Amino acid sequence: MKDAVVLITGGAAGIGRAIADAAVAGGARAVLWDVDAARLEAAQEALGDKALTANVDVSDPACVESAAAGLSGAGWKPTHLVNNAGIIGRRMTLDAIDPAEVDRVLAINVRSAFVVTGAFLNRRADHPKAAIVNLSSIAASNGGAAGNAAYAASKGALQSLTLAMARELAPGIRVNALAPGIIDTDIQKDVFADRSEMEERATTIPLHRLGTAGEVAEAAVWLLFSAPYTTGEVITISGGRK
Ligand SMILES: NC(=O)c1ccc[n+]([C@@H]2O[C@H](COP(=O)([O-])OP(=O)(O)OC[C@H]3O[C@@H](n4cnc5c(N)ncnc54)[C@H](O)[C@@H]3O)[C@@H](O)[C@H]2O)c1
Repeated sequence: MKDAVVLITGGAAGIGRAIADAAVAGGARAVLWDVDAARLEAAQEALGDKALTANVDVSDPACVESAAAGLSGAGWKPTHLVNNAGIIGRRMTLDAIDPAEVDRVLAINVRSAFVVTGAFLNRRADHPKAAIVNLSSIAASNGGAAGNAAYAASKGALQSLTLAMARELAPGIRVNALAPGIIDTDIQKDVFADRSEMEERATTIPLHRLGTAGEVAEAAVWLLFSAPYTTGEVITISGGRK
């Protein structure tokens, strides 16, 4: 990992931050793009000169392009990419869809992966173990929570995009996706009414607990830096939940 620079979208919190911590602990440097200024500052302070943080809205192609140009200018050429930024979006039943909200969810969860991957490909430094990981969800295969159809559809699209990327970018860059189940991060505030509802749901998971961001990060690090014969796969990390 020592000569790697991992670009992580949504890297200031939750799973993205855990991947950054794991990559830096393994000797890599990390570039964190996020819209949460306070958490970006905290990450920069914690990771020091092993990280470069920037306020980047991945749903805004102009913002992504200027951040990518800034990276090259600063001499930080990414070798690996994690398309991790994502939101659940506002809960909507199918008879009360707000098209603007559907667009927002798709722009942050899927279109961003097209745009950021393009920026990465045009500015990256070659690396013998180049790889990309996309953060999907088991919602892609089970339809997600009631009222979160846009989220489920966005993750289904991200999985298809993962397969297309794996074909197009082979043999030089491996591309895989992770599909977590219920992981204990802030995103759950948009799914569960409160912590006790979330803990209640945990009892229905075969392993009887929520997952941690660190457990997802372990798999991400494996896909990024090991797994030399694995591409175009979606790996589920859900404690057995389907
Ligand atoms: N936590 C889970 O249970 C779970 C399950 C399945 C999939 N996932 C996926 O994992 C990824 C990370 O989720 P998490 O649980 O760490 O959530 P989180 O809310 O803790 O972190 C998401 C990060 O993305 C950032 N972000 C949001 N919109 C952005 C934008 N437009 N541009 C840049 N950054 C933006 C947020 O500021 C935040 O720092 C998401 O794609 C999510 O869908 C999470």
